[in-house]
Amino acid sequence: MKETFDAIHDILIVGAGLAGMRAAVAAEAGLDVAVISKVHPVRSHSVAAQGGINAALGAGDSWEKHAHDTTKGGLWLGDQDAIEVMCREAPDDIRELERMGVIFSRDAQGRIAQRPFGGAGFPRTCYAADRTGHALLHAMYEQLLKRQVRVYEEWYVTALIVEDGVCRGVVAWDILNGGLRVIGASAVILATGGCSRIYLTSTNAVINTGDGMSMAYRAGAPLMDMEFIQFHPTTLKDTGILITEGARGEGGYLLNTLGERFMQRYAPEQMELATRSTVSLAIGTEIAEGRGVDGCILLDLRHLGRERIAERLPQIRQLAVDFAGVDPIESPIPVRPGAHYAMGGIKTNVWGETSVPGLYAAGECACVSIHGANRLGGNSLLETIVFGRRAGLRASEYARSAPPPSGDAGFLQREQARIAGLLKNDGPERPWQVRDELGQVLALHLGLVRRQDRMAEALSLVRALKVRAERVHVEDKSHTFNTDLISALELGSLVELAETVVAGALAREESRGAHYRSDFPKRDDARWLMHQLCHHTPDGPRLDHAPVTITRFPPA
Ligand code: FUM
Repeated sequence: MKETFDAIHDILIVGAGLAGMRAAVAAEAGLDVAVISKVHPVRSHSVAAQGGINAALGAGDSWEKHAHDTTKGGLWLGDQDAIEVMCREAPDDIRELERMGVIFSRDAQGRIAQRPFGGAGFPRTCYAADRTGHALLHAMYEQLLKRQVRVYEEWYVTALIVEDGVCRGVVAWDILNGGLRVIGASAVILATGGCSRIYLTSTNAVINTGDGMSMAYRAGAPLMDMEFIQFHPTTLKDTGILITEGARGEGGYLLNTLGERFMQRYAPEQMELATRSTVSLAIGTEIAEGRGVDGCILLDLRHLGRERIAERLPQIRQLAVDFAGVDPIESPIPVRPGAHYAMGGIKTNVWGETSVPGLYAAGECACVSIHGANRLGGNSLLETIVFGRRAGLRASEYARSAPPPSGDAGFLQREQARIAGLLKNDGPERPWQVRDELGQVLALHLGLVRRQDRMAEALSLVRALKVRAERVHVEDKSHTFNTDLISALELGSLVELAETVVAGALAREESRGAHYRSDFPKRDDARWLMHQLCHHTPDGPRLDHAPVTITRFPPA
């Protein structure tokens, strides 16, 4: 082991959610694989996924139909080569998950049950009641234990080590014991999830601060399509807690204050199961035009009956009772759209390779890109499994031939100076104050409907917050379990990513999926059927473009 490294592994995976653990499980036997995560693996945000995971398993369904629905749902911005890979490989991946012990719900014949989801022409969402992420994550953790993969639990990675343009490991803060450590690796896979916590309320766990996206961006890997943030149509009043699309898949209605199933006016064929951008915008319109109920609309499940709700939707029933005081067996649930998912992320190919050799990414932190401008429900869990597995395989090949890391290239000293600077700051603001303000700016200026003047204001506000974030006062000066320090570091990721989201949204002068602009209300394929890349510079993001890969489905 080289002097500067505290440990060296063949593959180091940052993030222990489904994509990260799936990558670890896929890595070739004989390699030294480790996972590092700021939380215990089963606390990762994948655990909160509710409604299910898509695969064309049913008679009459096909991967081609799944690929078509995904492409169309994403308004043709997804790369079709990547979409094909995901949809073609999905059925085998589901069967493998089942063999690993995932307790999928069953149909009357004992087969894996599938429910309808928005934008899907076929009921192809496999599920474990409304706790699918929980079932998957625990099964994957068992596989990790079985393989005796080393897990650095509660370690926060602060930077990637990039030597001569090649990723060689990470610098990380040991949250429990305090102190920075340097971990070398022939290959690093980022699987750190999304960044929807740039918004004040979100379905995301508070840990979803986009640290992986931010450190890849700083290390020279471009981010792609960051302007596309999905608003889930149904999040619980006041709290933003996810109320699964599975509730509508099981037959739930959306009602306005007049008791109308208003989706009749917006999507008369698909009704409540139109794609998320359509349903969210419809709900936003109902509320804005005065047909909401106390800032929400109502999700009515009463007609499904007690037995079905208890069997298929037990978690959301409990959430509604605990957090809104409403039992959906007896009363409709007040819901409204909320920030849910980042369609953009670190640009990768279908093997998880980024533009930085030795650096891979998978799951929500990556942009492969399969979701385009609007993700279909049930495709995010699938993405973690298919592309986590692929990243694990490709990183294994690479790690076998890559030279071992040779030194930390001064990254440790740089990170030590950064943390010492944060601990010394005596500015007037605490990290949470800047974070709250950032969340409000995004909620106010980059909601369901966007327009130039509001976004321009947001950009200057976010840039001011970025400066303030560097000066926040970390009250806790200790090294042991210093969550105050971690909040300050996370805030750095949040402000940086918020800037890429706003800059990208300002530049894209059209409406497409989750990016709806009242000043450019039409989709504009002639100018904007292309990806937008964000490159890091000291002065903020530099934007350029990349073509969309179209194989079998011409834009319609
Ligand atoms: O509604 C849901 O259960 C969420 C699923 C998803 O985002 O894929």
